[in-house]
Amino acid sequence: MHSVNLGEVLAKLTLEEKASLLAGANFWETVPIDSKGVPKVKVSDGPNGARGDSFAGGITAACFPAASCMASTFDVSLAKRVGTAIAEETKTKGARCLLGPTMCLHRHPLGGRNFESFSEDPYLTGKMAARVVEGLQGQGIAATIKHFAINEQETERMTVNETVGIRALRELYLKPFEMAVKEANPWAVMTAYNMVNGNHCDSNEYLLKEVLRGDWGWDGLVMSDWGGVNSTAEALNAGLDLEMPGPTIWRKVEDVVAAVQAGKVTEATINERAMRVLQFLARLKCFEDPTIPDERAVNKPEHQALIREAGAKGMVLLKNEGDVLPLSKERVQGKRIALLGHAKSALAHGGGSASVNAHYKVTPWDAMHTALGDSVEFTYAKGADTLRNLPPITDNVVGLDGKKGFSRKLYEPGSSEPVEVKHGLASADVDILNSFDFINKDVSLEGTFTPAVTDDYYFALSGIGPSTLLIDGKVIAEQKTNCPDPMGYLFGGAPGENHKVSLEAGQQYKIFVRTAPPTAGDAAAIGILAGHVGVRCGHMTVTEHDKDYVAEAIEVAKAADVAVIFTGHEAFWETEGQDQQSFNLPKDGSQDELVAAVAAVNPNTIVVNSTGVAVAMPWVDKVQAVIQAWFSGQECGNSIADVLTGALNPEGHLTCTFPKKLEDCPAHGNFPGEVVNGRLEVKYEEGVFVGYRHFDRLPADKVQFPFGFGLSYTTFDYSDLTVGRAGDDFTVHVKVTNTGKLAGAVAVQVYVGQAQAPKEDPLKVLAAFEKVTLQPGQAESVALPVSSRDIAFFDETANQWVVRGGNYKFMVAKSSQDVVLEAPVAIAQKTYAP
Ligand code: BGC
Repeated sequence: MHSVNLGEVLAKLTLEEKASLLAGANFWETVPIDSKGVPKVKVSDGPNGARGDSFAGGITAACFPAASCMASTFDVSLAKRVGTAIAEETKTKGARCLLGPTMCLHRHPLGGRNFESFSEDPYLTGKMAARVVEGLQGQGIAATIKHFAINEQETERMTVNETVGIRALRELYLKPFEMAVKEANPWAVMTAYNMVNGNHCDSNEYLLKEVLRGDWGWDGLVMSDWGGVNSTAEALNAGLDLEMPGPTIWRKVEDVVAAVQAGKVTEATINERAMRVLQFLARLKCFEDPTIPDERAVNKPEHQALIREAGAKGMVLLKNEGDVLPLSKERVQGKRIALLGHAKSALAHGGGSASVNAHYKVTPWDAMHTALGDSVEFTYAKGADTLRNLPPITDNVVGLDGKKGFSRKLYEPGSSEPVEVKHGLASADVDILNSFDFINKDVSLEGTFTPAVTDDYYFALSGIGPSTLLIDGKVIAEQKTNCPDPMGYLFGGAPGENHKVSLEAGQQYKIFVRTAPPTAGDAAAIGILAGHVGVRCGHMTVTEHDKDYVAEAIEVAKAADVAVIFTGHEAFWETEGQDQQSFNLPKDGSQDELVAAVAAVNPNTIVVNSTGVAVAMPWVDKVQAVIQAWFSGQECGNSIADVLTGALNPEGHLTCTFPKKLEDCPAHGNFPGEVVNGRLEVKYEEGVFVGYRHFDRLPADKVQFPFGFGLSYTTFDYSDLTVGRAGDDFTVHVKVTNTGKLAGAVAVQVYVGQAQAPKEDPLKVLAAFEKVTLQPGQAESVALPVSSRDIAFFDETANQWVVRGGNYKFMVAKSSQDVVLEAPVAIAQKTYAP
């Protein structure tokens, strides 16, 4: 029970005070009312680590595996342990509410935020998310399940309208939220930026009133996504309790009071919204202890070990021809191994609010040295150009004060008289994520650059608003309008064009960059970035830029016994704020070219791919082994080395289908939509046929690797399938045997489908799974509960769940394409309330 009587607290508040509670005070905190004893609370991103205040730099945090890696473990107890550990981390950032987990589905492989969401399957997503929520809230930290709802793409995310049928909405996209709500009662929900069926999520009465608070009976706090409120009265009436961040845009006290006086919102509604905020504060024990401690970096060995374990357990062995893996110490003693591609980078996380300034990151290069030590000779070549933006100008620059670094001047818009001058800036960039301390100002960056080498140089400029680059007074690059893709820009996309300039070593060149906040025209797309500046100015010698990376890698690979190529997406390629540019690894095919070229010269070629999504693997038949490593957190190098060397027998299973071609994907043609009357419109025309539900109806060879697929260094066999009944529900019993020579773990997957599925239903759906660990030769009988409601379809006319009844098949499978046992079960028709 709450130790404070919230009814009494509410009764003491004036209408103005209640209104003030309904929006944030700043980026991460709510508004306190000290005189009435109402505390504030701090929240923190995000789904794979508690980052704290700053987006980049700042206090470090533990970086956990991204959700697509977590889900690939198919291990719910591990998900709960990770939730518990992230709760501990959240406390070190002074926050009591974590903005995660992210729960939207992988509708299309190009989805920019797929990596931070669990899966293409709603059941797997719901189960994993519920355990993360339990882990967090068991430590008193609120989980915020997000983004409610239909946030399966990033293109035009603030304004896009997603049209989706109620059946698909309920059965696919809302189902994981429903499971998390019913199984783990998260204390907060974050609305999505986009529109669903014509209404913005923050004022979507169907989603918030009818489903979330109505059908599901949930009583937590609804907060907006950052800058995701679009109205005053409508959002209040629909049930959006808290606008974030602050200071408010839509809920200025006078505007809320005016809305009440005009009869657009009742005071009862304001009371209800304010009460939710008070309840949230009470749940988080803010009344008992209102302090918000300073942020700390606590790098705990227990968290390091957990991250390494979870990361490794999420990795999926996709191919292992001729048992080229594992590269155990005994097998590779005295050999030469080429570590190519991203071997020296740690692709630990994706970009955007799910990125974490990790305590440290372990590269595969370092981890392989630690794992195999002196017994092996390692060689390296980068092999591919994957740069998105030219590197910032950082070295050989002095500012207007004659000291190292750039000088920055702030001006009133359009003026040439600075109002503030600062020296010693690291580069000719303004990182928009860290520039929130000034608003509505023009900015110039000035410095004298003395190049170390004579060469042609490329310079590139891009700003969120109009920007210019001059060298010695000559305009080199000019962007006259706002960035056409502000959200993409924010998270490292929308690079500027390259402009060639010849420079001489030892000569002095005056660099001058001027930039302004975005002009007002594109207000909807600009959102909370209005008034802020961000600019990037990069450079590189043409020699370095145009180098033949592949040729170098071929030579290194030729001379090696084994070639391991690390492919993947840096955080600026796979990030919130934009969808992927291509199904092929960036950039412009460079990584595909590298793999194909190396495979042609080395018969032991292994690819370790770090992406949060399925990517094209045009070279898959030419290489001997492939590991899908996802974004596995700060221990990524060690987790990869554990799987490569066999210190951990791989046990992950794909959480999404890897198609061969994008054209075969269910959302193809409806992603990322079409502009109609100035608004991006997306139709979820594939209905319930998302992921394997779609590919099950296509020839098997359209799929590169199916959902649920994952090899091991041992083998498993299944037998003795029986299905028992428990009331309306079922229990599947199956015996699993480790038939190989190594200990290992496997996810037993149970799918259920109708014997003769009507064409409007999927052939089967995942209805239960369990991770089992077995010693060589060991067998275990596993019991998996299947809920009858989980195999129902949503009848939108009757507004209820319906188990059609008749003959069903209960299938035990190694993947969605590899059913190994099947049991017929007759089921009676049955309906459930929504
Ligand atoms: C993201 C949210 C995040 C918030 C705060 C938004 O842009 O969509 O997921 O929690 O920013 O960083």
